[in-house]
Amino acid sequence: MSTDARSTPTSHSTPRPGPPFDLVLFGGTGDLAMRKLLPALMRRYMDGWITPGSRVLALARTRHTTEAYRALAQAACRQHLGADFREDRWDGFAALLSYAPLDATASADYAGLATLLGARPGVPRLFFLSTAPDLFAAICRELAAAGIVTPESRIMLEKPLGEDAASARRINETVGAIAGERQIYRIDHYLGKETVQNLLALRFGNALFEPLWRRGQVRHVQITVAEQLGVESRGEFYDRTGALRDMVQNHLLQLLCILAMEPPATSAADAVRDEKLKVLRALRPIGDAEALIKTVRGQYRPGVVGASRAGGYLEEPGVAGDSRTETFVALKAEIDTWRWAGVPFYLRTGKRLHEHVAEIVVTFEQVPHSIFEGPFSSQLPNRLVIRLQPDECITLRILAKSPGEAMRLKPVDLALDLGESFKGRPLEAYERLLGDAILGNLTLFMRRDEVDAAWNWIDPIRAAWDADEQGPRPYAAGSWGPAASSALIARDGFAWYDEL
Ligand code: BG6
Repeated sequence: MSTDARSTPTSHSTPRPGPPFDLVLFGGTGDLAMRKLLPALMRRYMDGWITPGSRVLALARTRHTTEAYRALAQAACRQHLGADFREDRWDGFAALLSYAPLDATASADYAGLATLLGARPGVPRLFFLSTAPDLFAAICRELAAAGIVTPESRIMLEKPLGEDAASARRINETVGAIAGERQIYRIDHYLGKETVQNLLALRFGNALFEPLWRRGQVRHVQITVAEQLGVESRGEFYDRTGALRDMVQNHLLQLLCILAMEPPATSAADAVRDEKLKVLRALRPIGDAEALIKTVRGQYRPGVVGASRAGGYLEEPGVAGDSRTETFVALKAEIDTWRWAGVPFYLRTGKRLHEHVAEIVVTFEQVPHSIFEGPFSSQLPNRLVIRLQPDECITLRILAKSPGEAMRLKPVDLALDLGESFKGRPLEAYERLLGDAILGNLTLFMRRDEVDAAWNWIDPIRAAWDADEQGPRPYAAGSWGPAASSALIARDGFAWYDEL
């Protein structure tokens, strides 16, 4: 019997139950907990992965009772899980949740936490620090003083991990004082996305791409993460941060690493992280005068996004009226290695852009000599488009003969819709990342040296921008960013994918 399953959609396998765990959630009433973490945990509970015997202890300053907290959590899960929320499973999940008020800076409160946790030998204990980073030091100090960090403990840190290399170092040293590197789980939620992991599968599960994945075969690469959303309710935070620190330092550089890294020997955490680190360290520095040539920053003005009018960045609540914070970045990155010398990687991200899309476009070299005549004889190179969001598909553009007598070539797409090919529910980023931390798998978390290397590359760009009087270039909300972004790539003879 044939085992060929070419057109058969493959199901996601039903997960086996995971081990029991204790998860201590600092910032338990915060936006991340309500919007992402609790819904993710509930999904895994409904899947049968989280079993009774696990405990989630939420902490925050507010004096809620556990009952009141469960009611908040229920409303959040109902809202964010939508039709997937199962009323009949709520009580079982809620029984795992408890709440304790805690002032992160008050030593006395940690004695109570120690009592609540008790001793559960062999059960992984996770401390998820979903608070402002300026509380990390106090939390770590108090956890250590109360003797609650056991050898089975893991510390999960949410970005932003600092605002530059120096502040990231301080955070890492503080956390490093109470836990070893193998106990620290630094989150970049892009690594938890199924679609991003699929990049690893595409590159290292197929022999086809590896010989082509290099200079001489690849002409240039584009990475776009475009959002239609503005800064929502985070104006104050965003205005201190900007797109370079909020998106490029982490999500876009992580995508670049996965695309550009050498094949790791295994999928073990450090094998993968070693290879990503080499990419970050091989990035050609962009500083001073170069920054103004190889980077473009923009800030949105009023415009129309989709069908709705959108205000400008300077009108957003929490944003200074004369802010110079960038909401858009485009840049040209170069990787000084044998594999990638001479192959530019163009990175672009922004808020209030034309479309909500995350996409990687790998453009290959043209044929060296064309034997055909006609408009598409040789100018159109093959192109691999890997769309990560909102839908997941991989498209390879090739040239084929157009029907008819004449030998005329036309571009056609070989398209694979992964949502169609695999039936079933993929894990959301935080489901995956919480699950991996519970299992002790560090592969999808950033190691300290990666974070340092990423900041070391970002900081000189930031410094050059700060010294530049011009500030970010305006762009209309709903556009693809400032015209200078098109000029950046056009200088090398290319165009952004949406301009083709
Ligand atoms: C976060 C940024 O890390 O990523 C946000 O702080 C951004 O500003 C978000 O909106 C984008 O994530 P996603 O998963 O919606 O693409």
